[in-house]
Order: sequence, then structure tokens, then C-alpha cells
Amino acid sequence: MINILAIESSCDETAASVCRDGMILSNVISSQKIHEKYGGVVPELASRAHLEAIVPVVDQALQIAKVTLKDIDAFAFTQSPGLIGALLVGAEFTKSLALVFNKPLIAVHHMEAHVLANLIQPINSENKIPKFPFLCLTVSGGHTQIVLCQSPLNQKVIGQTLDDAAGEAFDKSAKILGLPYPGGPLIDKYAKEGNGNKYKFPEPRIDDLNFSFSGLKTSFLYFIRDEKLKNENFVEENLPDICASIQSRIVSILLNKLKKAATETGIKEVCIAGGVSANSGLRSAFEKTGKEEGWNTFIPKFEYCTDNAAMIAITAYYKYLNSEFDNLSVVPSARTA
Ligand code: KG4
Ligand code: ZN
Repeated sequence: MINILAIESSCDETAASVCRDGMILSNVISSQKIHEKYGGVVPELASRAHLEAIVPVVDQALQIAKVTLKDIDAFAFTQSPGLIGALLVGAEFTKSLALVFNKPLIAVHHMEAHVLANLIQPINSENKIPKFPFLCLTVSGGHTQIVLCQSPLNQKVIGQTLDDAAGEAFDKSAKILGLPYPGGPLIDKYAKEGNGNKYKFPEPRIDDLNFSFSGLKTSFLYFIRDEKLKNENFVEENLPDICASIQSRIVSILLNKLKKAATETGIKEVCIAGGVSANSGLRSAFEKTGKEEGWNTFIPKFEYCTDNAAMIAITAYYKYLNSEFDNLSVVPSARTA
């Protein structure tokens, strides 16, 4: 029996999870509210909030899993990418635990972990998980990637954004509409009541399997500015249709590239992951595209889509099985190493 405690602190979520033999026993997430009033994550405040939250979050994860620190066989943390001060809190905390309890330390890559959230199975049930090789569209606040996953620890990025991430496209559009940060979930909420074909935004022409969202942001900004000149209440009067239309374009950009990747690789096991995979428009369009294309589609449970430590724990479990351990000199890195 292998118990792993994993800690995630790369951005504005302090999270801890215990997994036993690859089964998630607890998944505790404390989301930092302090950034809302600044319209984005303030790195210094994030580090401080992690320091305050980390002990109670870890305590709760252990309690829910009904284990103590003495029962843990390995300690895992998010090494990169992320905000350096935020990563340092989780890294140094985890290293101290590994040192005190003299147990292996496992450093995990946040983006690889988002992909492997698709391998999490609920306890006592046969969950449908993807077979290798599979493709994963990983869409978060900081990244947009298409990953070819040959085995849990063999992942290759075959396409990525050249500028903004899909989550940023959602959040920046929301900001233009005067919605609070993070606006992605709010666009999703209003879009449910709206018509996604009402306003047309351009699809960028980008080579290969790469993405670009900065042109879309600019055209959205000018569109809203021009409409407001004609009618100052344009946003208030048309919010659901505006949200549905921008969401529908972001989703179609993502899925068109995913289709291209599936055609080029001949792979029909297809997953999505990352915070933006919580988006209901993306989830339903992904399922629909999957049916049309004959894919087996996989989406992690909602709580494993946005930043969480269960995905760090499952990745650490595969690293444990492979004896991929780190020594205490390992340091976090803001950028993908
Ligand atoms: O993976 P994640 O939790 O953190 C990062 O690693 O970045 O992703 C956060 C991003 C934010 O941009 C947030 O607005 C977006 O995911 N997001 C959503 C939804 N839920 C979270 N975007 C659109 N619709 C949602 N329902
Ligand atoms: Zn993330």
C-alpha cells in the first residue's frame, strides 16, 4: 500500500491531496479570494496566502483520508510552472516533510499533472479512463496545449499558444465587459442564456497545431468599444449573447485544432484538461465533436479540472512506481524546465 501526500501551490489555489495506490482519498482546495479586487492574481499576496493556508489545508487532507503524516510513503509538490513565490511555499513545506519523515520526495510538473487528471478513478468503481496513446487539449489560465501522451510519464507537446492562453482569452474578454476576475466562469454562466451565433468574431489563421488568441481579444475590444459608442447600454442589454458569442469562438478555435491533431496523428482517444475544461460550452461541444469524429472522449471530474492537488498526487504515484524521486536540492521553477 502506497500513500502519497501531494501539495499544489503554483498560483492562487492552496491544495493538498492524499492518494492510496492511485486512488484519491482526499482533495482539499482553498481558493484565494484576495485577488478579486485587483482584477488578477497579485504574486506577493498569493505567496502570503499560501503560507497562511498550507497547514490547515494539509491537515484537512490528512483527516479526510484518515491518515497521519507517519502513514505517508512519499511527499509530492508542484515544481513548475507557476508563480515563483507561490511555488516556493509548497516546495519548501514538502521538502521539510520529506526530510523530517525521511521519505521520498517527488517534484511534479503542473501541466503534466493536468493531463493525468484524466487517469483519476473514483474509489470502488471502474471509471472509463483513456488508453495510450491519447491526445489531451490542456487549457488553463496560463497554458493552451495539445499533448500527445504515450504513457503517463511520456508526454509531448505537439501544439501550443503563441500568445495568450484560452483562460486568458476568457478572463480578458470578461474584463472588457466589466466582469470581475476571474471572469471565465462568469462568461460561462451568462453564455448559457445567450445565442452564440449572434455576433461573429474572427478565427485566426495559425499554422500547424498552434493557437493564437491575441487577435481575438483585440477584435473583441474594438467591437465592444464601437457598439458602446452607438448604445452606451449595449453590454448590459446584450450580455448573454455577447458571452455566448465570444465563448463559442474560443471553443471553436480550440476544437478545430484538436480535430486537426486527431486527424494528423490518427488517435481517437481524446481528453481535455485544465481550468477551462470546466467550461460548459467547451464540454458539450467537445462531446459533440467526439461523436462526429468517432473519438472516445474523456473529461476529468469538475474538481480535477481547475487547479487541484489530486492531479499532483496521481502524477506522483506514477513517478513513484517508476522510482522517479528527487533530492532535497530540487528547486521550483517559474517556467517550464
Ligand atoms: O487550470 P487553472 O485552474 O489554473 C491555471 O493553471 O491557470 O485555470 C484557470 C483558468 C482561468 O482563466 C479561469 O477563468 C478559467 O480557467 N476557467 C474557466 C471556467 N472555469 C475556470 N473558463 C471558462 N469557463 C469556465 N467555466
Ligand atoms: Zn493549472
